[in-house]
Amino acid sequence: MSPADPDGLGGELLALRAAAKKGRDPTCADETLSYLLALCKRLSPVRILEIGAAEGVTALCLLQKTEAVYTGIELDAARAERARRNFARFGFEKRAKLLEGDAGEILPLLETPFDLIFLDGPKVQYLRYLPDCKRLLRSGGALLSDDVLLFGWVRGEPPQKRRALVRHIREYLSALESDGELSTEILEIGEGLAVSFKL
Ligand SMILES: C[S@@+](CC[C@H](N)C(=O)[O-])C[C@H]1O[C@@H](n2cnc3c(N)ncnc32)[C@H](O)[C@@H]1O
Repeated sequence: MSPADPDGLGGELLALRAAAKKGRDPTCADETLSYLLALCKRLSPVRILEIGAAEGVTALCLLQKTEAVYTGIELDAARAERARRNFARFGFEKRAKLLEGDAGEILPLLETPFDLIFLDGPKVQYLRYLPDCKRLLRSGGALLSDDVLLFGWVRGEPPQKRRALVRHIREYLSALESDGELSTEILEIGEGLAVSFKL
């Protein structure tokens, strides 16, 4: 592992991540990815769900570093198509499935339990997705919710136009922290990562 590639992803995947960081809805932060991969090493997940898969860049890292079967949900048709092409390009098409559409409509239709759920879709919907995430998470499994501190706004003073978003996230965090079926820790990595284990 080199300092430029601490997770040993390899040049092709690093280049895809570098490009995906420049997009409008960027891929997750380096330290968030490192945490995800370290957790995967510990949990050896059999099934992973990602809500907000974008072009499948984090998915590719998870597929490369685990034996898990991956399901991603992505609303944007062009991104979903690029994710499918990326899965094929890296030879993961048999272990990766991309469900195209609104997570709010797709989540209630899913039945299979997951060992790890990475929630990285629309932040204002996190609270709405929580009951399905809990239902779909097996006991001992982890729900990782990304971007829950948002530039320090969630624990500080948000700009006027971000107040509604911040209110949603605060409500989500208090729902996580007061949930008797979850044990939650908020990590100050990337834009904030909530790590919740189902008891
Ligand atoms: C921050 S990006 C995800 C990045 C990705 N998780 C990664 O680490 O590479 C958020 C994604 O959520 C998608 N999204 C937004 N609303 C959605 C919805 N209602 N259902 C599913 N996906 C949605 C966006 O199109 C965008 O691609």
